[in-house]
Amino acid sequence: MKDINIIFKYIKKYKWKYIAGILILFIVDFLNLYIPQFTGEITDGLESGTMDRNGVMLGIAKIVIVGLILALGRFGWRYYIFGSSRAIECKLRNDLFAHLETLSMSYFNKNKTGDLMAHFTNDLNAIRMATGPAVITSFDAGIMTIMVLTKMILYVDLRLTLLAVIPLIFLGVGGVYYGMAIEKRFDEKQQAFSELTDQVQESISGMRVIKAFVQEHKELKAFAKANQKNKDRNLKVVKLQAFIMPLLDILIGFSSVITLIYGGYLTITGEITIGRFIAFNQYINMLVWPMIATGDSITFFSQGFASIKRVQNIFNEKPEIYEDETVRNIDHLEGKIQFTDLNFRFTSETPEVLKHITVEVKQGNTLAILGRTGSGKTTIANLLLRMYNAPRGTIRLDGYDIREIPLKTLRENIAYVPQDNFLFSDTLQNNIAFGSDHKEIELVQKAAKEANIHDNIMNFPLQYATLVGERGVTLSGGQKQRSSIARALMKNAPILILDDALSAVDTDTEEQILANLKENRNGKTTIIIAHRISTIQNADHILVLDSGEMAEYGTHEELMAKHGIYADMYEKQQLEQQLEAV
Ligand SMILES: Nc1ncnc2c1ncn2[C@@H]1O[C@H](COP(=O)(O)OP(=O)(O)OP(=O)(O)O)[C@@H](O)[C@H]1O
Ligand SMILES: [Mg+2]
Repeated sequence: MKDINIIFKYIKKYKWKYIAGILILFIVDFLNLYIPQFTGEITDGLESGTMDRNGVMLGIAKIVIVGLILALGRFGWRYYIFGSSRAIECKLRNDLFAHLETLSMSYFNKNKTGDLMAHFTNDLNAIRMATGPAVITSFDAGIMTIMVLTKMILYVDLRLTLLAVIPLIFLGVGGVYYGMAIEKRFDEKQQAFSELTDQVQESISGMRVIKAFVQEHKELKAFAKANQKNKDRNLKVVKLQAFIMPLLDILIGFSSVITLIYGGYLTITGEITIGRFIAFNQYINMLVWPMIATGDSITFFSQGFASIKRVQNIFNEKPEIYEDETVRNIDHLEGKIQFTDLNFRFTSETPEVLKHITVEVKQGNTLAILGRTGSGKTTIANLLLRMYNAPRGTIRLDGYDIREIPLKTLRENIAYVPQDNFLFSDTLQNNIAFGSDHKEIELVQKAAKEANIHDNIMNFPLQYATLVGERGVTLSGGQKQRSSIARALMKNAPILILDDALSAVDTDTEEQILANLKENRNGKTTIIIAHRISTIQNADHILVLDSGEMAEYGTHEELMAKHGIYADMYEKQQLEQQLEAV
């Protein structure tokens, strides 16, 4: 039951609207009972000749007025309750998104995109159905049942009523079991929907690879399987619903049989009139709709409950990276970085990816990190951005432990070119200005020039207004890389991290970009991760990583003199260059 709390928090905000809606609903149901009565009065009046023309007109006027009030009322409760459920859905969706944004990278590593998308669509839909239509149906059914039962008791007979509703007690018991069963099935149905969304999402993102490896057929099979599972799970829900409907009929049938037998007996003995006996049969039939409605609302509530649990699970997810009480009031960084005996592993089950890293980068210096793939270079960048938590005391910026620095300050003061150059489906201008408060085209162009992408962009028909598709499909690898460098440069932050950011550009372009950096980033700290020595040989310090360990550390000259890994790499790359030149 704890899970349901979250939704009450939202419902509470709209409680007056709910109360107003339910009150109007009550009035509508109540007035509804009067239309047959007014019609009856006119019929009786005409038949007995006690009603004149004016009387009939008056009767009709009463019906019209009640009809108008009913129409208004029906609009009213829809407006209040459906409106509230839509508002709750919208607010909940915003809050869910805001919460997702607080979660750490490790959460997104663990959870599939399609899964999360399914929460945003299907689960929130189900919650809306439970907070809107289900509320209406259950109250409507409840009010109707009470009113009809009251009529049955007052107008016809208490004993007959009690006897006739015995089968309906089974309905109540059955309803509880039904609710439990359907909730479980709905949960499975949602799971299948998540998997299907995930399948679609992944296949579309990976379409190029699928085509290149001629795996369309295999993908189709995988998709068809997920689709089939989705259908089967939906059918399981429908089957249960289909099973319950005839059962309702049977229960009503039992009630009718009881009415006929006992009611008939009461009529024969003269305890009730034939008219009332007939009326009672009609009342029994009037209970059919509320019962079906009850079935529906149980379904809605169960589905909603299953969805609330899933959404609540996301809300229960705590960000791993957060500011604790040790955080200081720092709003700017100078750019001094120290690693002190940094050891790091991603999870307790995985091995250490960084071991005993001790490096100091003075403000304005450039640190280059070199090393084989998988040696831990990107991990160092991630730790500096605090995408993951390094042990306390192992990373210091400007002398403060990284955890003492507010996350906003930390990330605002680091410009980062990630290894996978993600660009948003937006214009180049917006992509480059993404991390900056000032988005003027002059500033964007300046950054683009520094990143050596300006001329390229000017050659596009739409220039800076060129839309780059999802993940920048219309740009070449090197263009994407340089756009992403421009985005980082535009931030003009005290610390710049380039993670393999020059791997897709030729050596000439690389040289130009490096020269621009040297000129424009004077006095600012830079970390360059690379594989090519040409990229990094002018750095103040070079760190060579080998399986997470500091294999070598020093300047280009110092490392060359060592005749170790670095010197080896240098010679190999020199040789490659000479071979290329031939
Ligand atoms: N989120 C993660 N969870 C668990 N292990 C990870 C995670 N990210 C990276 N690793 C592991 O950490 C090690 C270092 O990865 P890292 O990405 O830092 O290498 P890298 O030096 O940047 O390699 P490359 O040159 O290929 O970019 C690898 O063995 C990798 O498998
Ligand atoms: Mg990397």
